[in-house]
Amino acid sequence: MKNLTLIIILFMSANLFASGGGAHLESAQTNIRSNDSLVNGAKLYMNYCSGCHSLQYQRYSRMAADLGLSKDEVTENLIFTGAKFSSHMTKTMDNAQVKEKGWFNNAFPKDLTLVAKSRGNDWLFTYLKSFYKDSSKSTGWNNTLFPDVSMPNVLWELQGIQQASFEEHEDEHGIVSHTFTGFENITEGKLSHDEFDTAVRDIVNFLAYTAEPAQLIRLAYAPWVLLFLVVFTFLAFMLKKNYFKDIH
Ligand code: HEC
Repeated sequence: MKNLTLIIILFMSANLFASGGGAHLESAQTNIRSNDSLVNGAKLYMNYCSGCHSLQYQRYSRMAADLGLSKDEVTENLIFTGAKFSSHMTKTMDNAQVKEKGWFNNAFPKDLTLVAKSRGNDWLFTYLKSFYKDSSKSTGWNNTLFPDVSMPNVLWELQGIQQASFEEHEDEHGIVSHTFTGFENITEGKLSHDEFDTAVRDIVNFLAYTAEPAQLIRLAYAPWVLLFLVVFTFLAFMLKKNYFKDIH
């Protein structure tokens, strides 16, 4: 019994740790089965993210096949690097250039192919919505989920500019800490609040797809596999009944 209690406590604390120390995450509510969402996510990703981040384990041709896009649609609308249809999705920006110019405080924009696996959909959704204006930062932006992040808010035109409010606390040792209390929009974006949520959800959905493209095929096969199991169970049951009829 003691051991069981210990295992439950360890399990719960491991979960708490994995969720990033209890930071509040919004539910992304992505739907990997929605092709419209994936196509819109791909478009937004290519327009707003691919300049700095690569998806180097994904190919344009694979994406086209999985999302039902033609070669011409992808080449004309989604490839901005002059890359071939069959090549991997590299980024426009060069790390050597970032280093030389000292951009983003030398924090290189990472490859995002697997980021939905490492960070989780809810984290990505909350992160992309949590940028706020902070003139003390070199990029002019900060983020409540990823404090002092070096990435600027690339979606500000769609979202509008928001400012964050914090409450100041001082403990008995005189150490001051700040608790985030909420956002307020100081300029309107091109999209409404709900439209912006949908746009971010679509980007996250697309990143969840690139992290495991085979899941689309797996999901398409799933009903057939279940149907096969049901039919097979029925046949096995009938066979068993037939074999045992003389024994009883
Ligand atoms: C102007 C360049 C630039 C653009 C465009 C950009 N990012 Fe970033 N991004 C960065 C930099 C730089 C970092 C590293 C931040 C740090 O470590 O402080 C980063 C970090 C991230 C991270 C955190 C990675 C991790 O696990 O630490 C995610 C997720 C991310 N970006 C997603 C996106 C998405 C999605 C888009 C498009 C909507 C985008 N970025 C567009 C520069 C950019």
